[in-house]
Amino acid sequence: MSTATTEHREWQDGARYVPRTWARDADLFVESGAGCWLTMSGGDRYLDLTAGIAVASTGHAHPRVVQAVAEQAGRLLHGQQGIVYHQPGVELHRRLPGHFPGVGVDARIFLLNSGSEAVEAAVKLAKRVTRRPAIICFHGGFHGRTHFAMALTSSMSVFRAHYEPLASSVYFASYPTASRDGPDSDHSTIARSIASIRHLFATLVDPADVAAFLVEPILGEGGYVVPPDPFLAELKDLASQHGILLIVDEIQTGFGRTGRMFATEWSGATPDIVVMGKGIASGLPLSGIMAAADLMDQMEPGANGGTFGGNVVSCAAALATLDVLEDENLTENALSKGAALMTSLRQATEGLDAVVDIRGRGLMIGIEFANPASGDPRPDLAAAFISECRKRHVLVKGCGTYRNVIRLMPPLVLTEEDVLFANAALLDAAHSLPA
Ligand SMILES: Cc1ncc(COP(=O)(O)O)c(C=O)c1O
Repeated sequence: MSTATTEHREWQDGARYVPRTWARDADLFVESGAGCWLTMSGGDRYLDLTAGIAVASTGHAHPRVVQAVAEQAGRLLHGQQGIVYHQPGVELHRRLPGHFPGVGVDARIFLLNSGSEAVEAAVKLAKRVTRRPAIICFHGGFHGRTHFAMALTSSMSVFRAHYEPLASSVYFASYPTASRDGPDSDHSTIARSIASIRHLFATLVDPADVAAFLVEPILGEGGYVVPPDPFLAELKDLASQHGILLIVDEIQTGFGRTGRMFATEWSGATPDIVVMGKGIASGLPLSGIMAAADLMDQMEPGANGGTFGGNVVSCAAALATLDVLEDENLTENALSKGAALMTSLRQATEGLDAVVDIRGRGLMIGIEFANPASGDPRPDLAAAFISECRKRHVLVKGCGTYRNVIRLMPPLVLTEEDVLFANAALLDAAHSLPA
């Protein structure tokens, strides 16, 4: 046996040391990535419609991002924010606030490492500014796995199970459901959601105790549910009436994925705090919040911080990511390729009764499996679909409370050939499912 093969075996054998808690669909051993494609150890190539859960926004190993990372790594790996300023960090603090969704906001950013940490920072800012204790989030929302972020999460009980007691003063309102039936139903689904908040005000929490509404502009983990556009504006109106802040969790939706820099832009609402993560740095760990300067400045020195927040290499990757998003028109690409993929998927699955909905925005597309008569979720079909796709060398991922939705969230550099490949494989996979 050659040394190369032995080494290859050894590192794969090592997989047994990796904890089971990393819920995975298959044992795949990756070697490298380029654009939307991953090459596995052994040479097989897979079209990655997951982007590592909506992270590799500019594609795997985009040369400009790689170059920025390599150059920065050669200069400095860590310059702690409270000890020194570093140029990529300062530049990102100057540049990113220009993308704040909303008109005329003089925004600032505060950088951290993971999405959960940024969600917590957003809530901490809201509590500190308002001096109020409570947060209202939405059923089906996912905001992370740290102890407080977990308390804000309701997409699946497995994320919370056996960790109780969780933080208190967290309340849940209903999220507007997917709108399949036009403007009337848009109106009523928003009205239902707003009514559920008023019900909370009347029964469980006085609005004067609520620091913030925390909401995903599109439900991610909870099932790729796209609310009607006016939802966030109506939520903001309600928030303003009661001195409540609006926090939008753009961790999954941000950085061009939905065809806008931030999905909140589709609504025309101006949030108070934007939470960012995932695609911000094309794969390097970076997250943060963005808020008006007069809010951010209320965090006095030491009120928040961290060892690694705004890591210099991650900031260099984020700057390169912004350049690539702009220079390669990736936001527009997300919109056009997403529309093409969604249209062809809808046409081709027309006869498949168990595919009850294909929805999304830009390159955030959900395919829902359910019993067409009863509406009962079909997680079995979703799981079979993931494995049929994998057989055809396409990676997709599940989501939804009942794990009956497939999400497509490819890198934003998806090409026309990638769309054709994806389309053919997904259709073939869908048509090979059991009844
Ligand atoms: C909307 C949203 N918020 C928060 C998080 C948590 O981010 P992280 O896993 O980086 O902590 C995620 C991750 O999937 C997310 O999709």
